[in-house]
Amino acid sequence: MPNSQLPGIHLPSASNVVARVDPFEARDEFARLMMSYKFGLDEVMTKVNILKEEFTYIHDYSPIEHVGSRLKSAESILKKAQRKNCPLTVEHIRAQISDIAGIRITCSFVADTYLIRDMLAGQDDITVIDVKDYIADPKPNGYQSLHLIVEVPVFMSDRVETVRVEIQIRTVAMDFWASVEHKIYYKYDGEVPDSLLAELKEAAIAVTSLDMKMERLYGEVAKLGGESSS
Ligand code: GTP
Ligand code: MG
Repeated sequence: MPNSQLPGIHLPSASNVVARVDPFEARDEFARLMMSYKFGLDEVMTKVNILKEEFTYIHDYSPIEHVGSRLKSAESILKKAQRKNCPLTVEHIRAQISDIAGIRITCSFVADTYLIRDMLAGQDDITVIDVKDYIADPKPNGYQSLHLIVEVPVFMSDRVETVRVEIQIRTVAMDFWASVEHKIYYKYDGEVPDSLLAELKEAAIAVTSLDMKMERLYGEVAKLGGESSS
């Protein structure tokens, strides 16, 4: 593949490189990159939706409460590449930015997050390339979630591309915490006052205890249901 750059982006110290790049070719290559991530996202979303529907039909209960997906915008990809000192070529972006395609799955219970991980990781055409278990080992600020980076093959007309997808799996309570923390973080532009950080940490501990309590309650009710139907 040619030394392609993203449209409109020029390496400051290499004007000769800019002169060699055909902007139309670069634009086309970037469009193809985004298309392959969209297809990868669609493939994994189909897998998750199949699990969700199958559970609802067969077991009358789905461990998946909600699924959402997003493709990173070109602007966010460029910002992240610059932050990571990643050269602005399609090859480097593919190799260094793992969350261009992202899926977030929310579950009722912690046990369900691991169940979904196992069901996805066990599929033949999914390769798990990284796991970060912030449920077993929360971030210092209290953030909890199970992150997988997976690769899936995407079959195109003339080639097969391997596409990375980031999957975040967490409980509804963890998701609530993360979305509020995210808003606070942005509101303060990353400089969150210590008192608020301490309260967020307390809230994260409350999330853990709520998750444990709900799982226990549900387990007790399920046991009762089993006893009364036998
Ligand atoms: P990024 O470069 O930000 O993608 O981080 P990373 O490559 O070290 O991966 P990590 O698994 O830590 O984070 C990936 C994603 O998880 C982020 O893009 C967020 O969506 C989410 N995340 C991680 N940490 C936090 C956090 O402290 N708060 C919230 N709200 N979300 C987080
Ligand atoms: Mg990320």
